[in-house]
Amino acid sequence: MGVFASTDDPGSTGHEQVVFCQDKQSGLKAIIGIYSTALGPALGGTRFYPYASEEEALADVLDLSRGMAYKNALAGLDLGGGKAVIWGDPERIKSEALLRAYGRFVESLAGRYYTACDVGTYVADMDVIARETRYVTGRSVEHGGAGDSSILTAWGVFQGMRAAAEHVWGAPTLSGRRVGVAGLGKVGKYLTAHLLEDGAEVVATDVNPKALEWVRATHPQVELVADTATLVASDIDVYAPCALGGALNDDTVPVLRAKVVAGAANNQLAHPGIEKVLADRGILYTPDYVVNAGGVIQVADEIEGFNFERAKLRATRIYDTTREILRLADDDGVPPAVAADRLAERRMAEVGRLRTIHLR
Ligand SMILES: NC(=O)c1ccc[n+]([C@@H]2O[C@H](COP(=O)([O-])OP(=O)(O)OC[C@H]3O[C@@H](n4cnc5c(N)ncnc54)[C@H](O)[C@@H]3O)[C@@H](O)[C@H]2O)c1
Repeated sequence: MGVFASTDDPGSTGHEQVVFCQDKQSGLKAIIGIYSTALGPALGGTRFYPYASEEEALADVLDLSRGMAYKNALAGLDLGGGKAVIWGDPERIKSEALLRAYGRFVESLAGRYYTACDVGTYVADMDVIARETRYVTGRSVEHGGAGDSSILTAWGVFQGMRAAAEHVWGAPTLSGRRVGVAGLGKVGKYLTAHLLEDGAEVVATDVNPKALEWVRATHPQVELVADTATLVASDIDVYAPCALGGALNDDTVPVLRAKVVAGAANNQLAHPGIEKVLADRGILYTPDYVVNAGGVIQVADEIEGFNFERAKLRATRIYDTTREILRLADDDGVPPAVAADRLAERRMAEVGRLRTIHLR
C-alpha cells in the first residue's frame, strides 16, 4: 500500500504527514501517521508490535491515525488525529535508548503530534519518552499524569448506553434492563458497578478466573455465564462487549437477543457490512469509538494539567454526542456508525475552517 494511495478512500481527506523514523543502533523503526491537524495537534498512542512486514505496519498506522481523528473530533477535543507504530517485539527490543530515540523524533515534529500509550506501551514508557519530548501524555501519577484511564472509559460507555436506552425505551436509564457484560477487566468492572447502581440486572462472563472471583466477592448479585456465546444468545436487553475487538461478527450478530450494543472494546464490527446486519435485525449499535472515548478524553486533559472533575464532565458529554448521532442516523436513514462519521467530518470541516481567519 502506498501512502498517497490511502488518500483515494472516498470521504477521506487523506493523511497530512507520514514520518518514517530509524535509529539503527537502538533498533528503532517507527512510523508516525498524522491524519489531520484541522482541530489541533494530532493525538494518538504508540503501538509497539511485531508486524509481519513494513507494509502491515504502515497499513496499521494509516488506519489507526484516521480513526483517532474521528474519535477526537467526536469527543469534542481541540485535537487532531494521529498514531504511531514501533515495528518490533517489545519483549525483545524495548530499551531506554530505543524509547528515547523515538522521543527525539516525536520532539522533532514540534508539537504537531502528541503520543500516549497503546498496545505494547505503558505509562512507564511514556515517562522515558518524556525525557526527550514535551509532546507526550498518559504519564504516571508521579510525573503529573492522570493514571488509570479505564475509570473514565467506563463512565463514558455508561453515558452512551444511557443515550441508547433513551432512544429505544424512552428513558435514559438502564434500570430494570438486563445488561450482558463480556469482559470484566479494567473497564468492565467499573461499568458493572455503574450499571448496578443505576438499577440494572447484570449478567457477565470472562475467561480469567480472577475476574470471576472479583465479581463473586464484590457484586454477588451479578449472574455469571460460561462464555460469550452463551451471553449473546441469552435473554439480555443490552450487550456490552468489553473484551477484544471483532465482538460483532457472523456468529454473534445472528443470535444476539439484545436491542442495544454499547461497550468499550475497540473495533467491535468484525467486517464492513456487519453494521447493516445489526440494523436489519433492529439492534441499535452505538459506535465503539464514540462511547469508549473517555480514555482519550482523560489523556487529552492531562495535556492541560489533569483535573479529574473537568475530564469527567467531558466524558459525561458522551451522552449528548450519542443522542445526537442516533437522531442524525434516524433523520438520514443510515446506521449510527455512518452518522457518527458524518458528524466527525462536519466538525473537522467547520471548526478546522476557522483557522483560515488570520490572527496575529
Ligand atoms: N482501558 C481503557 O481506557 C480503554 C479505552 C478505550 C478502549 N478500551 C478497550 O476496551 C476493552 C477492554 O479494555 P480493558 O482496559 O478493560 O482491558 P483488560 O485487559 O483489563 O480487560 C479485558 C478483559 O476481557 C477478558 N477477556 C478476554 N478474552 C475474553 C473472551 N473471549 N471472553 C470473555 N472475556 C474475555 C480478559 O480476561 C479481561 O478480564 C479493550 O478492547 C480495550 O482496547 C479500553
